[in-house]
Amino acid sequence: MISTFPEGLEQLSPEASSLYKRDHLAIAGIEKLRFFPLALESARGSTLVEAGGRELIDLTSTWTAAGLGYGHPKVTEAVTKALQSPAGMGLSLVNPEVVALAEELLEIVPGPVGRKVYIGHSGSDACDVALRAVRFAFPEKHMIAFRHSYHGGLGLALGASGVHVEAGNSSPDPKVIFVDFPNPYRPKDHDPSALGSMEHSLSQIRLEFETKQISCVIVEPILDDGGLVIPPSGFLKELEAVCHKNGALLVCDEVKVGLGRTGLLHAFQHDGVTPDITCFGKSLGNGIPISATIGPPEILDHPTAATLLTTAGNPISASAARAVLKTIKDEELPARADEAGKRFIAGLKQLSCNTVGEVRGKGLAIGVELVSDRYDKTPAPAVAAATSYRAFQLGVAVFCVGSNVLEITPPLVITDAEIDRAIDILGQAISDAEHGLVPPEIFQSYTGW
Ligand SMILES: Cc1ncc(COP(=O)(O)O)c(C=O)c1O
Repeated sequence: MISTFPEGLEQLSPEASSLYKRDHLAIAGIEKLRFFPLALESARGSTLVEAGGRELIDLTSTWTAAGLGYGHPKVTEAVTKALQSPAGMGLSLVNPEVVALAEELLEIVPGPVGRKVYIGHSGSDACDVALRAVRFAFPEKHMIAFRHSYHGGLGLALGASGVHVEAGNSSPDPKVIFVDFPNPYRPKDHDPSALGSMEHSLSQIRLEFETKQISCVIVEPILDDGGLVIPPSGFLKELEAVCHKNGALLVCDEVKVGLGRTGLLHAFQHDGVTPDITCFGKSLGNGIPISATIGPPEILDHPTAATLLTTAGNPISASAARAVLKTIKDEELPARADEAGKRFIAGLKQLSCNTVGEVRGKGLAIGVELVSDRYDKTPAPAVAAATSYRAFQLGVAVFCVGSNVLEITPPLVITDAEIDRAIDILGQAISDAEHGLVPPEIFQSYTGW
């Protein structure tokens, strides 16, 4: 089959154009989610360096994987040291780095004594293991997940991801029930109060508990890939109460916005809950693959030898994660995320663009929802896709989620000067997109979600 290249590559440097074309020919589409043709040669802090040398401010952290910024010296130092003399490679050999990491996670994640930690490679397997272990313990029971949620691209995590099921990437699991996540910007039944959206969601959940046996509810503290939706304060607390009243487990997926991003170490802490099972990934390794699931031994100890990833629990990734946890603490990154997020949100709210329906966020997890009509709140996915593309041209990398929301999740080390410059560029990009400066045939050749 003849492969045609996406539109717009002629504007790139010869180096970037050549790299993008090689990627197009060699890398499989099944693992691509593109919004613009960015081909990199390197990155540092919050700066991406395109092949050919052009620099962009990164508002993605690569879907939050580079939470501490690219090439953080503390992580580089830890990984280099571990690589020089690794104690084994995982699975069947015990190494001190992974045991220490598990102990450190048990210390910083609230919950009862005696819990255990699964160490894996990616947020997907962390969530899959959580759900698989719960299903093994309660094979007959149903699980509750949320529409438009994202928990991973593998196994049960895939089957419990609203985004994947809705896109037809996974056949629906007959024992996973999807309910609405509370969205204060779009409350159900025309109830204008935030409480309305929360009550709507909770009543769906209570109804499921009344009519079925439920083993767990899996929830993202912020529905990020589904549109960076921030639930009303108190939602997780209510959810925890419903779960515990009915003997079900609360599984909290901190993979995307955990570890400092929301202004507290854990996003679930904003609601003062103690999840029964917590999943981490992405920024835990700051780009080095590692994930973790923490939960009760009666769940996570079984079935034994059932999640055999040969290099999971290896000392290189574990040392990266230990350096990440130490740096978050030493550099007080949750507090910095809180402060930086307030600056970012205040600046974005000043933008005078007609399509900005709402700017919302917690720390450095910020969404800008674009709508064609502010009264009806009609989503404007084409403006969002064009904005993302135009921002790339102007020097900012920003992705879209939930079809019409700009997802602003920069590295936690982003500086005030970078924030201010990014706000100016985003304002220009939205305005240019509103005025049709980016022809649809250009941004539509990047598949997006
Ligand atoms: C909330 C959440 N959970 C789990 C995952 C899966 O993580 P990964 O893609 O790193 O395996 C993601 C990825 O976007 C996510 O956003």
